[in-house]
Amino acid sequence: MDTILGIEIKKKYVSFRWKLLSTYLILIVILFFILISIITDYLLDWHINEKQEELTEDSQQIADDISYYLSVYDSSIYKTYLKSVVNKYGDTLNSRIIIIDEEKRVVADSNDEFNFLTLELIEVEESLKGEISTNNYYFRDIGHVMYIGYPVIFEDEINGSVFISESINNLYEKVNSLIYKIKVLIIVISFLIIVGLYLLTYFFLKPINKFYPAIENIKKGDLGQKVDIKTRDEFNLLGEAFNSMTVRLNEVDEQRESFVANVSHELKTPLASIKLLTENLLLQEDIEKKVYREFLEDINDEIDRLNNIVTELLSLVDLDKNKLKLNYQIAYLNYILEKIIEQLNPLAKEKNIKLVLEEIDRIQIKMDKDKIKQAIINIVHNAIKYSEENTVVKVSLYSDKSYATIKVSDTGYGIPKESIPYIFDRFYRVDKARSRKTGGTGLGLSISKQIINMHHGTINVKSRVGKGTTFYIKIPLEE
Ligand SMILES: Nc1ncnc2c1ncn2[C@@H]1O[C@H](COP(=O)(O)OP(=O)(O)OP(=O)(O)O)[C@@H](O)[C@H]1O
Ligand SMILES: [Mg+2]
Repeated sequence: MDTILGIEIKKKYVSFRWKLLSTYLILIVILFFILISIITDYLLDWHINEKQEELTEDSQQIADDISYYLSVYDSSIYKTYLKSVVNKYGDTLNSRIIIIDEEKRVVADSNDEFNFLTLELIEVEESLKGEISTNNYYFRDIGHVMYIGYPVIFEDEINGSVFISESINNLYEKVNSLIYKIKVLIIVISFLIIVGLYLLTYFFLKPINKFYPAIENIKKGDLGQKVDIKTRDEFNLLGEAFNSMTVRLNEVDEQRESFVANVSHELKTPLASIKLLTENLLLQEDIEKKVYREFLEDINDEIDRLNNIVTELLSLVDLDKNKLKLNYQIAYLNYILEKIIEQLNPLAKEKNIKLVLEEIDRIQIKMDKDKIKQAIINIVHNAIKYSEENTVVKVSLYSDKSYATIKVSDTGYGIPKESIPYIFDRFYRVDKARSRKTGGTGLGLSISKQIINMHHGTINVKSRVGKGTTFYIKIPLEE
């Protein structure tokens, strides 16, 4: 198994560093070949051009020297003269010089090899047409050679040609030795760059090292991990994102812990009561039927309470799970409020509370009807629950530009100022003793708030102890 940055890697893994370096290496190799071939071509061209110019000048000089004599070459004296010219130039130029007449016959050859032979060469042919012709050839035994044919003109008439052949192996050697030096230079530079890059990537990738231990710790359950990244690049952003993620993770974990603790506590209380009541019953002998009934009624109440808690918990879990799955419909809020009043009226009647609905506007919005109904019921139910007998609970519906507002006001016990920030927390109840009497788990408002939030709305409270409480539910009309 491979290990990278101290982490064991099970899968086939190619480190970013190697990817970068190998890409660079491939690029260098390609560039190397392109560069070398371009430089070689350029240098050779340059040298060959120079040589051509040089040879052209030489042949021009020879042609000038011999032009008159070639026109009358029959004379044996002149032939000797022509021979002396080719020999002289052949020696100084270190090349082979041949003079040819207009019939392509060799008149003089510095090597004395082709005398009186006919020379069938493109350069000769073209020069006899008046053009200067140069070409390069490669022969296996002697290597690179340059040929030039130069027309010999006397009184506007072409009467022969000067042909020079010269070895240009030295040019190739010169270029090759230069190219060799350039190659070495490029390789050395590339090597230095690769080493530099190798070291640089180490520093570039260093911040990643900090993530692994943090992630390992999170894996082990220690969620509040922080990485401290000092660079000013993407890693820094990643580090910040990572840190805020771990903060959130930690929060969620804490919430979960306290939620579980609360749930257990809430479930334990009615269970303990049931246990106590049953034990009492079991311990007593010959109990009156009336007492039996009383105990059983108490037990029944506790069971109802348990049932309530479990139902509310399930509905919370459902909200959490299906956050994005609202069953949207366009409906009148008025209709929903009327239903709620109808449903809660019997409860209000028990306390002789007057439940008033004031519909200032008719408002249609897009919503999950069942959920919105549940959210409002919780609040109106609270208003009834936390009010004295013979009072009034008023529910009003009105809209401003962009919101539908449902206002629920009572003249009940009120909520102390310091408790207001917490009433939407799960399991929070202001007066535990009274809440016990009235029944309740402290989940109602948190459920309402979650539903309203899912509709992008808000819930606000104004309350004064002993005077009463008003809840404002605002839902955007657009939704
Ligand atoms: N209209 C109100 N007047 C006074 N106190 C209120 C009012 N509405 C809510 N509260 C306080 O806020 C607390 C939280 O309310 P919430 O509805 O979440 O829980 P609950 O009513 O105790 O239980 P349940 O989960 O059955 O609704 C209540 O226990 C109560 O103390
Ligand atoms: Mg409630």
